[in-house]
Amino acid sequence: MSLSFEGLREVDIRILRFLAEQGDKSRLNDVLERTGIEHAALVKSLAWLEEKGFVSVERIELEFFSLTDEGMHYASSSLPERKLLNFLIERGGKATLNDVLKAGVIPEPMVNVAIGWARRKGWIEVLKMDNETIINALCTSPPRGSDELLLEFLLKKKSAKRSELPEELVSAIDLLYKRNLLEKRSETEVFVWITSNGTALLESGVEADEGISLLTPDLIRTQAWKNVKLKKFNVEAPTKPVYPGKLHPIIQLINEIREIFLSMGFEEIRGPLVESAFWNFDALFTPQDHPAREMHDTFYLKKPSTVRLPREELVYRVAKTHENGWKTGSKGWGYSWKTELAQQAILRTHTTATTIRYLAEHGTPPVKVFSVDRVYRNERVDYKHLAEFHQIEGIIVDKNVTLRDLMGVLREFYWKLGFKKVQFWPSFFPYTEPSIQSTVYVDEYRAWVELCGAGIFRPEVTVPLGVRVPVLAWGGGFERIAMLRLGLDDIRDLYRNSLGWLRQTSVIL
Ligand code: PHE
Repeated sequence: MSLSFEGLREVDIRILRFLAEQGDKSRLNDVLERTGIEHAALVKSLAWLEEKGFVSVERIELEFFSLTDEGMHYASSSLPERKLLNFLIERGGKATLNDVLKAGVIPEPMVNVAIGWARRKGWIEVLKMDNETIINALCTSPPRGSDELLLEFLLKKKSAKRSELPEELVSAIDLLYKRNLLEKRSETEVFVWITSNGTALLESGVEADEGISLLTPDLIRTQAWKNVKLKKFNVEAPTKPVYPGKLHPIIQLINEIREIFLSMGFEEIRGPLVESAFWNFDALFTPQDHPAREMHDTFYLKKPSTVRLPREELVYRVAKTHENGWKTGSKGWGYSWKTELAQQAILRTHTTATTIRYLAEHGTPPVKVFSVDRVYRNERVDYKHLAEFHQIEGIIVDKNVTLRDLMGVLREFYWKLGFKKVQFWPSFFPYTEPSIQSTVYVDEYRAWVELCGAGIFRPEVTVPLGVRVPVLAWGGGFERIAMLRLGLDDIRDLYRNSLGWLRQTSVIL
C-alpha cells in the first residue's frame, strides 16, 4: 500500500529528495541550478513544504560594498589629503594656500576637502598670517589609514561582503560612504534544508497526491468531478515579483503636491531655469552686494552671459527703490545700482524668481498660484546637499489677506501631505516682512524639521510692480519631504536611480 499526503506533488518530492541528498543547508540558487526546476515553481513548492514543516528556510541579508567612480579614482591614485601632504613635503614642509591652488596637484573644488581631512587626521595645521593662509605639514609619511587600505582592498576585489573585509577595515566603511567613495548594495541569500519530518516523510515511501488541477468539460458533463480529487489552490502562495512600469517616485510626489494645491484652488505656473539676476535678486530687493549672489553660491552662465531686462520703466523703479526707496516709503539700500549686475545670466537659485516674474504681469487680485520646480545652487554634493534640487513655491494676492491666512494655507497644505503638527517661527528674508519659517514635527526623528520660508512681500518688492494689495509668499524644500516619504537618509539616493531601489518603491507613496 502506498502512502499519500494531501497536496504533495511530484515536484515537492523531487525537492525533498534533492535536499536529503545534500544533507546540509543549500543555497536557493544551487537548488535552482541543480534541480532545473523553474524559479516560480521552486519558490511555490518550498513555501508549501515550509508551511507543512518538511523543510526550513532561512533568509540572510548580505551587504555588498564596492567603490564609486570617485572612490576608484582615489584608490588608483591617492586621497586628496595625501596628495596635499606629499606636495607640502616636496616644498620643504609648508606652503601657502595660494601655492597649493596654483600648483594644481588637487583640483580646485577639492582643495578645501583635502585641507579638512588632512587636518582631521592630524597631518597638517593651518595658520593665518598677514592675510595669507599657511599650511604646515606635521608629519612626513604617516602610515596608511583604514580608509586608504579599504580603498585599496576594494579596488582589487571590486565587490565584497562585510564578512569578507579584514576586521581592521570595517571601521572605514561609514567614512568612505559619507565621502561618496563607497557604494552599498544589499542582497538576500536564501538557504533551505530538509527537516526531520521531511526525512521521515521520504522514508515512509510516500507518493504524490496531486489531484486534478484542470477541470475539463468532460469531467463536468459526465459528473465524474464528484468522484475525483480536486487539487486545492493556495491563493496566498508567494509568486515571482512583477515589476510593472510606473512613474518615478519624484514625479509621483510632485503630482501629489500638484493635486493638493489644485484642490485648494491654486493654478500652476512655471518659469525659466536660466534667469536674470534681476528677477532672481533685484526685483526681490536683494542688494547687489548680498552674499547669496556670490559665485560660490550662485551659478553664473558664460553663454548667454546676459539676459534682456524687462521694460525700462520697471527696471527704473527697481533701481531707484534699491538706491533711495523710490515711492515705496523705504529709504532703500543707499548704493548706486548697476544694470550690468542685474543683466547677468544665472541658474535660478529659488523659484521665487518665478512667482515674482508672474506677479509683475498678473498683479490684479485675486491670484493664487504655485510651482514645484528645479533650482540650482553651487553646493558641494554630499548626503545632505545637491546642486540641483526642487522647491515648492507659491503666492496669494488679495485685498485683505494677512499673515494668519498665510499660516492657515501652509498648515492646510502640510496637513494634506501628512504632516499634522506645524509650527511657525520668526525669520528673515530680504523680500518679506514679516518673515516666518515653517517647521513640521516628524515622528521618526522625534524632531522639528524646517520645511519652508514665507512672509508678506515688502512694499519695496510690490510697489515697483504696481501691486497695492498684500502678497503672501512662500517657498521651500521638496527633497526633504521626498526623503521622509521614501525613508531615505541620503539625499543623493533620490537621484541615483538604482534599479533595485526603483523597483521596490511603491506605486502609491
Ligand atoms: N526663497 C526663499 C528660499 O529659497 C524662501 C521664501 C520664499 C521666503 C518666499 C519668503 C518668501 O529659502
